[in-house]
Amino acid sequence: MSKICNILTLTSTGCLPQRVHVTPRNQIIPRNHPKITAMATNGNYSRVEKYALVTGANKGIGLETVRQIASEGVTVVLTARDEKRGTDATCMLHNTGLTNVVFHQLDVLDPVSIESLAKFIKDRFGRLDILVNNAGASGVVVDEERLKALNIDPGTWLSRKAVNMVQQVIKTSYETAVECLNTNFYGVQRLTEALLPLLQLSPSGARIVNVSSLRGELCRIRGDDLRNELEDLETLNEEKLDSILKRFLKDLKENTLEAGGWSLMLPAYSISKATLNAYTRVLAKRHPNMLINCVHPGYVNTDINWHTGPMSVEEGAQGPVKCALLPDGGPTGCYFDQTEVASF
Ligand SMILES: NC(=O)c1ccc[n+]([C@@H]2O[C@H](COP(=O)([O-])OP(=O)(O)OC[C@H]3O[C@@H](n4cnc5c(N)ncnc54)[C@H](OP(=O)(O)O)[C@@H]3O)[C@@H](O)[C@H]2O)c1
Repeated sequence: MSKICNILTLTSTGCLPQRVHVTPRNQIIPRNHPKITAMATNGNYSRVEKYALVTGANKGIGLETVRQIASEGVTVVLTARDEKRGTDATCMLHNTGLTNVVFHQLDVLDPVSIESLAKFIKDRFGRLDILVNNAGASGVVVDEERLKALNIDPGTWLSRKAVNMVQQVIKTSYETAVECLNTNFYGVQRLTEALLPLLQLSPSGARIVNVSSLRGELCRIRGDDLRNELEDLETLNEEKLDSILKRFLKDLKENTLEAGGWSLMLPAYSISKATLNAYTRVLAKRHPNMLINCVHPGYVNTDINWHTGPMSVEEGAQGPVKCALLPDGGPTGCYFDQTEVASF
C-alpha cells in the first residue's frame, strides 16, 4: 500500500515540500512520474521498482548520471563524501521534480562510511539493482594558471608532446598517487565487495558500471610486460592487480617510472584506470548473472581535468547511463568508449 506524505518528513535536505508516494520501505517516488503512473495503474510497485547508487555524485558526470537514471523512474541514491555538497545536489534535483533521489554520505576511502551506506541500502530498499562507481581522483597537483596559459588543445593531450609540455605544471607526488589508487581502484573494490550481497538480490541481475578512462586503455601502456599482465584474462585476479599497484608505487618512490613501462602522463591515474578495467573483467567472470562493464565517458568539461574537456556532462553521462540501464542479456565484461563497446 502506498500513501501520500510530505518529503520534508523523510529527507530534511531543506528542499521545497513536495507530494510524493511512499512505499512500504519508505521509497520516495515522484507522484506524477509517467512510469510511476503506469505502475500505479497495475497496483504493483514492487514488480518494476529499481534501486541505483552513484558514487561521487555531488557534481560533474556523477550528478548528471543520477539525473538521467532518475529521469527513467529509477530510485537513485546520490552519494557524496561531503554532506553539504551532497544534500545541495540532491535538493537541486528534487526542485526539478526528481524526488526519487535520496542522499547518503559516502567517502569511498572510509570503510566505516561504506559500511553505514550498505546498512542504509539494506534497511531502506532490501537490495540494489545498479551500482555506478563514478568517484575519481586525478592523482596530481596542478598549477592551474600555468596550465591554462599553455592552452593545450584536446587532441594534443593524448600525444607524447603533452608529457613534456605539462612537466612543470602537473606533478605527481607519492601522497597524491596513493590517494588516486585508493579512490579509483581500492575504493571501487571495497565498495563493490560491501554491496555485492545486496546486488545479488537484484531479480534480473544487477548492473555494475565502473567509470574508467581512455588513459587506462591497454594500447596506451608503454611496457610490454605490464600490458601482457593486464591483458591475460586467464591469469588475472585481484592479488595480481594489487601487486601491480604496489610495484607502481615502488617505482614512483624510486623515480624509475620510465624504466618500469608506466605511463608518464598522469601515471597514477592511468594505472588506476587500467587496473580498474582489469578488475571489471575479473568481476564479470566471477558473477555471470550480472552485467558488469567499464566505460570511458569521453573528454568532459569537469573539475577533474581543470575544465579542459570539450564535451558537456550531459554527453559524458550517456555511456555510464547506457551501461547502468542495459537490457537483460546485454554485454558484460566489456569496455565502452562512451556508448559503444570498444577494445580494452
Ligand atoms: N571528465 C573527464 O573528461 C573524464 C574522462 C575520463 C574519465 N573520467 C572519470 O569520470 C568520473 C567522474 O569524474 P568527473 O569528470 O565528473 O570529475 P569531478 O567533477 O571532479 O567529480 C569527481 C567526483 O568524485 C568525488 N570523489 C573524489 N574522491 C572521493 C572519495 N574519496 N569518496 C567519494 N567521492 C569522491 C568528488 O567529490 P568532491 O566534490 O567532494 O571532491 C566528485 O564528486 C571519474 O571517475 C573520472 O576519472 C572523467
